[in-house]
Amino acid sequence: PEAKKSKINRLESLRTQRVRVMGWVHRLRQQKDITFITLRDGTGYLQAVLSGVVNQTYQALTLTLESTVELVGLLQEVPEGKTAPGGHELVVDYWKLLGAAPGQEDAFTNRLNEKSDPSILADLRHLVLRGETSSNILRLRAALLAAFRQAYAKLNCTEVTTPCIVQTMVEGGATLFKFDYYGQPAFLTQSSQLYLETCLPSLGDVFCFQESFRAENSHTRRHLAEYTHMEGEIGFINFDQLMDHIEALVRAISETSTSYLKHAIQICDAVDILLKDPASAALVKQLNPTFEAPARPFLRISYVDAIAWLNEHGIKHPAEDEAGNPILDESGQAKMVEHAVGDDIAEAAERQMTDIIGKPVFLHSFPAELKAFYMKKIPGQEGSKLTFTESCDLLMPNVGEIVGGSMRIDDFDELIAAYRREGMDPTSYYWYTDQRKYGTCPHGGYGLGVERFLAWLANRYTVRECVLYPRWPGRATP
Ligand code: 4AD
Ligand code: MG
Repeated sequence: PEAKKSKINRLESLRTQRVRVMGWVHRLRQQKDITFITLRDGTGYLQAVLSGVVNQTYQALTLTLESTVELVGLLQEVPEGKTAPGGHELVVDYWKLLGAAPGQEDAFTNRLNEKSDPSILADLRHLVLRGETSSNILRLRAALLAAFRQAYAKLNCTEVTTPCIVQTMVEGGATLFKFDYYGQPAFLTQSSQLYLETCLPSLGDVFCFQESFRAENSHTRRHLAEYTHMEGEIGFINFDQLMDHIEALVRAISETSTSYLKHAIQICDAVDILLKDPASAALVKQLNPTFEAPARPFLRISYVDAIAWLNEHGIKHPAEDEAGNPILDESGQAKMVEHAVGDDIAEAAERQMTDIIGKPVFLHSFPAELKAFYMKKIPGQEGSKLTFTESCDLLMPNVGEIVGGSMRIDDFDELIAAYRREGMDPTSYYWYTDQRKYGTCPHGGYGLGVERFLAWLANRYTVRECVLYPRWPGRATP
């Protein structure tokens, strides 16, 4: 009878029928009169058995891992006591070799595993992707992006696609990749935020998934030179509360940040959406067996309180001189000192903090001088030495910062002053400034690193595992 062509994940309804499946030899066990193949086609795994005449050919005897084959036969339910992926097994009566692979002597098919030299794993990433863990992470990534889009639909946000080629910076000049653009200087985008802000008057609340690029010389497990950035921008948030509470400064801050942060928390609806889908929930379980959706509301700690917390817990940071060079103690080691208000909370301290707390935590209200030019100041701080901003970072255990966000300066003059302070030329930002000229509005937004989120969700050691082809200093291959 005619064999029905099928993908492996669609086989269930074809049990007891003759089917035709194409894929790669994922596992291979050759016994005297019988060959067991685990076939992989990207949608799943299928156990197949070759015996009798189909197993007695030269090709069957010399079959190798990762070869491409076409298998035809009867799909049978596996007898009780035996297990197979999907609960069925293909009894092959006809098969064809479509593309052979090198076999046992080959570095990839024979020796490569998670403990192999990282640089070899990176060079052979295109083959490593064929492994179960790597492909599961990418499958979960696809499901996560879909879940985020669903969460945004619930929030009435419209998706836009922003450009990668830009002539303005967002997060400081130091991390810009610069290149020649028809004889003019241009950059690879660091963030789509400024473009999202320009969408508020035409599309309302918006979000995007776009690659962001950072020329950071950071060889850490959470930095990439190119990463997928999910960003959202929301208009008319907290304006009334801000006005109402302007007198009681502290309360106004907590009110505004509270309702702003609520939106950021809602993006974690994506986790709920994801876990409701059985296939995605199974992937999470496999990759991160102890994962539990975090309880809400998340802990919120202001920057100033966080500095005190670090000191209470004895978490110090390396001392620096005025030029930013490390100060050494008598034994030549970096001198460690307590944190003071105004200090940046470096990655190491931040990680220790999240690991001790052990659950998601919002750090908020950072000093302006540690943060980007566009961040709105907490009102009522005029004349104080250090000014704080309506800003927040969401930190996750194991990963650290996964979201950075803030309210934006919505006043024209204040924005011009911010450009000046940062030494930026306002002329190239005319289109951004115009938002404050043609009907400004209070608004805020955030950016989430998709790879960092995935590293948290799937409990991966590094973000390099959470992207198809990772880029970090010195690496842009494959
Ligand atoms: O904190 P960042 O730099 O904030 C912005 O770019 C804002 N303009 C976003 C906005 O408000 N629309 O970056 C946001 C997030 C970080 O929290 C982190 O998760 C991720 O982007 N990120 C990186 N991920 C991987 N590799 C890097 N080098 C990253 N830099 C930032
Ligand atoms: Mg940040």
